[in-house]
Amino acid sequence: MKNKEPLIFIIVVAFTLLTYWLVEPFAHSQMHKHVESEKFAYADLPAVTKTGVAATGKELVTGAAACTGCHAITKDGLPAAMDAVTAAGTYGVNPPDLSNAGALYDAKFLSDLIKNPAHALKVEHKFDAAKGKMHPMTPFAGAGGEIDQEVADIVAYLQSIAVKPEEVTPKMAFENACGRCHAVGYEKWTQIGEKPAFKFQKESLAFDIKVLEYQESLTKYMGKLPPDLSMYIRSRGEHFISTFIENPQAHLEGTAMPRVGVTAHTAEKVIEYLEDAGDTKRAERTATGKNVMIFIVIFAIFALLWKKQVWRDLH
Ligand code: HEC
Ligand code: HEC
Repeated sequence: MKNKEPLIFIIVVAFTLLTYWLVEPFAHSQMHKHVESEKFAYADLPAVTKTGVAATGKELVTGAAACTGCHAITKDGLPAAMDAVTAAGTYGVNPPDLSNAGALYDAKFLSDLIKNPAHALKVEHKFDAAKGKMHPMTPFAGAGGEIDQEVADIVAYLQSIAVKPEEVTPKMAFENACGRCHAVGYEKWTQIGEKPAFKFQKESLAFDIKVLEYQESLTKYMGKLPPDLSMYIRSRGEHFISTFIENPQAHLEGTAMPRVGVTAHTAEKVIEYLEDAGDTKRAERTATGKNVMIFIVIFAIFALLWKKQVWRDLH
């Protein structure tokens, strides 16, 4: 009898590859819309044409532009006007601390955001000043000089106090750009900050109540509670999350989640944070994987030798 094993082997491999390269990607493309990355270029936003002066920007931020009426800038000694829960009660969400905004967000995005928040954040379908539905962040209408120069000054100030863009860490990126809306239970992150390890249950419950109060305001503001992101990197994958951050509307038309305007580097750090959260054993598994592969190869050699020996006398 002719040896049929090579033929069987080839058939199994061929069907496996067919499923892997044709059937699975096809099914996937039918179920999920593919959105190309725009490389975080924000091509729809006008280019920045002015060079800002940080010192003038600082005066505007605390003065005419009143940013510090809503935002803390703790790095420059400017505290928040209210605690997170009260702020969410007032604005729907806690306006983030701007200490590192100059490094986290794209400069074009920041310039547009300051003049027209709903436009930069791509939530004009929800907030329309003409219909009396104002975005909770008041637009800066200028302080008497040329507005584009004043906006450039504000951005220059934010950049001057921020860490260097390459120093943005995963934690910093996530907590600033996403943390006011999304909890990450696996990292003990809540919308009002990391939950400390309390000594008494009473304190722990008091903290939980604050989180619930915050979430109530946030739910009213967003129309639904933004999901806990602990496992999203696994269920959706990196490409989805990255393009979703870049432009939520491209995936979910009409969604309340704003385009947050992060730079490509900040987005990478956000993904890194989510990877660490969703997969705490990531590094360990990669290392184990290699050992398992080596084991399988050695095992296969022994199996083959053993098979040969068993069949030798029968042929
Ligand atoms: C102002 C609040 C807000 C911010 C800030 C925000 N999100 Fe969201 N996010 C939402 C809301 C609301 C939803 C639910 C969207 C829906 O179902 O329409 C959502 C949904 C999501 C989803 C789920 C999408 C899906 O397929 O169901 C992911 C993933 C996500 N956000 C990631 C992020 C990341 C990463 C950041 C930071 C870069 C971020 N979000 C910042 C409000 C926010
Ligand atoms: C009346 C209150 C208010 C004022 C004044 C205000 N903001 Fe905001 N800002 C908010 C709120 C609320 C949010 C969060 C909106 C959201 O997540 O939907 C926000 C968000 C932001 C963000 C984060 C945007 C993102 O993409 O995640 C930045 C940066 C910012 N503001 C900068 C500024 C600067 C700079 C000024 C001054 C020129 C300013 N804000 C003035 C309320 C305010």
